[in-house]
Amino acid sequence: MAEIETFSIIDLHPTPADMAAVVLRGLEQRPRQLPAWLLYDQQGSLLFDEICKQPEYTLKRTELELLQKHANSFCAQIPANSLVLEFGAGSAEKVGPLLQALSNPAYIALDISARHLQEAGKRLQAKFASVPMQGICADYSRALELPLSAEWSQRLRLGFFPGSSLGNFEPAEASAFLMRLKQLLGPNGALLIGIDQPRPKAQLEAAYNDAAGFSAAFARNLLLRLQRDLNAEVDPWGFSYKAEWQSEQQRIAMALVSNGEQRLQLLGQEVIFKPGEILITEYSYKYSPKAFQSLAASAGWSSQQRHCDAADSYSLHLLV
Ligand code: AVJ
Repeated sequence: MAEIETFSIIDLHPTPADMAAVVLRGLEQRPRQLPAWLLYDQQGSLLFDEICKQPEYTLKRTELELLQKHANSFCAQIPANSLVLEFGAGSAEKVGPLLQALSNPAYIALDISARHLQEAGKRLQAKFASVPMQGICADYSRALELPLSAEWSQRLRLGFFPGSSLGNFEPAEASAFLMRLKQLLGPNGALLIGIDQPRPKAQLEAAYNDAAGFSAAFARNLLLRLQRDLNAEVDPWGFSYKAEWQSEQQRIAMALVSNGEQRLQLLGQEVIFKPGEILITEYSYKYSPKAFQSLAASAGWSSQQRHCDAADSYSLHLLV
């Protein structure tokens, strides 16, 4: 009889002091900008799940379909007993087709949001009772040593980085991150990565500013969480949300725009926002297949397989 596994988490979340330092540094930048991982506390992870259900935001649905359709083809070259490492697992709803297609896999889910990860992991473990799984709560954009047992360390590694989350990095950081993944995944490792492609401006801007207001709530939650977790003094409703396609950089810039002059206080420091001044909450870079393949090549990866949707607006690349 197969052993029933339980899902547990190793919590390496940055401390409040770490977070406050990151926030103060980001507020000194021009334009002011906070790292995207700060968006994902419990509340932010729930709001992101709502964004994914909006009619304007097709990314997750498209990717799930592609995974279901092509998991067998992607996994055909991946050896038995591999370790699937997912970066930013979120609700962990995408890895299922891979776990099904692989022979005797193990799974590690990394995510910044501990509670969200715990609940997602529990659901997934119930579905795949015999797959050994482990959660790690961490900011995967920083250098990371995986706390792995000897048995897990021996497995070949398949990185899984879905959702086009690479788009949150600036291109130079994206290249550096892909290089670090190459190190982490080892000489025979592979990486399955989802990449959103450029599309007409109106379509993209609608996807990042949905009519129901979840995109705006997701961005504003960043300030609410500074209040909740770091005792910041700030008026989250003193800012409006804006999402703009910047074609030169091939990115969506998401920002909170200060409605008037106002102050934010954190750890005895005061930051003054001028009327109209912006706080970048995140960028979402888009890559054509060619642009992505050259970015991947700059980090030492080559694309072995690519599958895209009928409109050729989203792709999954298997890098080796
Ligand atoms: C999780 C970074 C892929 O850029 O599409 C969606 C984040 N923010 N709507 C994206 C996001 C607002 C998302 N990623």
